[in-house]
Amino acid sequence: MILEAATCAPDHGTLRPWRFVVLADDAKDAFGSVLAEATAADCRDRGVEPEPAKVAKDRTKLARSPLVIVVACAYEPSPKIPRHEQYAAVVAATQNACLAATGLGYGSMWRTGPNATNPHVKQALGLTEGDDIVGFLYLGTVDPSAVKPPNTGDLEGRITYWQPPPPTATDSGHR
Ligand SMILES: Cc1cc2nc3c(=O)[nH]c(=O)nc-3n(C[C@H](O)[C@H](O)[C@H](O)COP(=O)(O)O)c2cc1C
Repeated sequence: MILEAATCAPDHGTLRPWRFVVLADDAKDAFGSVLAEATAADCRDRGVEPEPAKVAKDRTKLARSPLVIVVACAYEPSPKIPRHEQYAAVVAATQNACLAATGLGYGSMWRTGPNATNPHVKQALGLTEGDDIVGFLYLGTVDPSAVKPPNTGDLEGRITYWQPPPPTATDSGHR
């Protein structure tokens, strides 16, 4: 249901660029070790020493919710639809999934961080290096003590009403 809602997102050219990798149950727990190893490998690639605290955090971070869905964009070669529009479609799909989860009474949290761009993570998920991870979607039952008041938005200075420019002498036929 949540993923069906995701695939109802606006999608220029019907390219279906979204990919979903579901991390559930024991597989989700096991993927924590993959994240930890991927973080260490990425540090080695960049010639930096892995921070033990960060590596340890990767091992347990997926335990924050019972289900994590990795949403990725696999770009389709297209002469008409640019990559940023394909990425935008996957962003819309991700938000649809969040809204569907809310509608079903679940909570969702969209996270990225360094794991989203780590090539070792992409490889472990069966994605190609050219794919982009758009988010790790943490889904689960909301802890009532953690519920915050809804965002009221901050529109100050963010809306303008366009008006046509005033007519010039040329527009009114004078020379
Ligand atoms: C592309 C994207 C990536 C995000 N990555 C993170 C993240 O890594 N960590 C984080 O705490 N929040 C991240 N967020 C923000 C959360 O998903 C969420 O919007 C924020 O915590 C506010 O939640 P609230 O609206 O329930 O207060 C990200 C949001 C987007 C759109």
